[in-house]
Amino acid sequence: MKAYTQLVLLCRPGFEKECAGEIMDHASRLGFVAYIQTSQDSGYVLLIGAGEPNVSELLTQLDFGQLIFTRQWFASLPILDNLPEQNRIAPLIEGIQSLHEKFNSIELAYPDTNDGKSLSRFCKQFEPHLITALKKQKLLSVKSGIRLHLLFLNSQQVYIGTSPITNSAPIAMGIPRLRMPSSAPSRSTLKLDEAIHWFIDDETHYLKNGMTAVDLGAAPGGWSWQLVQRGLLVTAIDNGPMEQQLMKSGMVDHFKTDAFTYRPEKTVDWLVCDMAERPLHVSKLIARWFIRKDCHHAIFNLKLPMKKRYQAVTECLELIQKELNDAGIGHQIQAKHLYHDREEITVCVMSS
Ligand SMILES: C[S@@+](CC[C@H](N)C(=O)[O-])C[C@H]1O[C@@H](n2cnc3c(N)ncnc32)[C@H](O)[C@@H]1O
Repeated sequence: MKAYTQLVLLCRPGFEKECAGEIMDHASRLGFVAYIQTSQDSGYVLLIGAGEPNVSELLTQLDFGQLIFTRQWFASLPILDNLPEQNRIAPLIEGIQSLHEKFNSIELAYPDTNDGKSLSRFCKQFEPHLITALKKQKLLSVKSGIRLHLLFLNSQQVYIGTSPITNSAPIAMGIPRLRMPSSAPSRSTLKLDEAIHWFIDDETHYLKNGMTAVDLGAAPGGWSWQLVQRGLLVTAIDNGPMEQQLMKSGMVDHFKTDAFTYRPEKTVDWLVCDMAERPLHVSKLIARWFIRKDCHHAIFNLKLPMKKRYQAVTECLELIQKELNDAGIGHQIQAKHLYHDREEITVCVMSS
């Protein structure tokens, strides 16, 4: 355990401050002594341990699902510098052996920056060589609950570390590979697709044939399209036009009216909402839907302000939580800065 000196957290470039603020909040709350090292637009943040308990223990004490701005995390050794071009494997294996672990799987990663992305091919080519070397040293085991991480900053500098497979992103770098469906009305469709994959464990139970949904700010229909694909009947609310092909499915009713005043006649299974409105305004609207029993569950966006983005998000989530608690509504709330989110986060509230 003690070999680890820091946590490495991956995030969208430009959101290092939010990622850092959030992990520091949790670390202090849980009694860890640590400080942040990062640079703007780097796509990653280091939380460096400065006392006991070892900072790596955060990986077991903090639920990864609680982190909004972190895409992936792992406990890491200090950076390994000056990897020789000709034989990178030897120093890497030496570093990996110092962890005294066996690994279930490996994740080779790079920051989500232009420089970082240029390492994609290098990582792909290097991975089989590393796997062969790990097998030779008997360092891979399907029984292990630990994933080995290598984050390359370039072909000579790398962070080596580990994460528990049950408390980290199950997909490499927390970035989903989603295909843009050719018949979907807008690229926004990928946001809801990613949100469903991220937030809902048992998709076939929670989104299925015959369920109902309201889509606020629906036009041209990318989010409605995702729901229709899963068999839901959708009421789309937007003054703008919906795409014709989607309307021909017969699964969507469209009302040109204001999303802030519309109410359904009966409780719907899902409310989804993708409007570029003030986040506090949207949060109050969502809370109202639950309090009036207009929906069971909701997925929605909160646009981020230019400044104090983490603080704004916290205020919104606390408001929703408080209003639902005051109304005695049991619920679970999850929020994530998804890969397809830019200046917004996505939130999922499920009532019990
Ligand atoms: C980002 S677009 C939605 C894209 C849609 N989710 C999709 O996947 O195609 C935002 C939409 O919200 C609508 N909108 C914004 N404020 C609204 C309001 N108060 N009432 C109804 N629609 C609103 C806009 O007309 C716009 O079409």
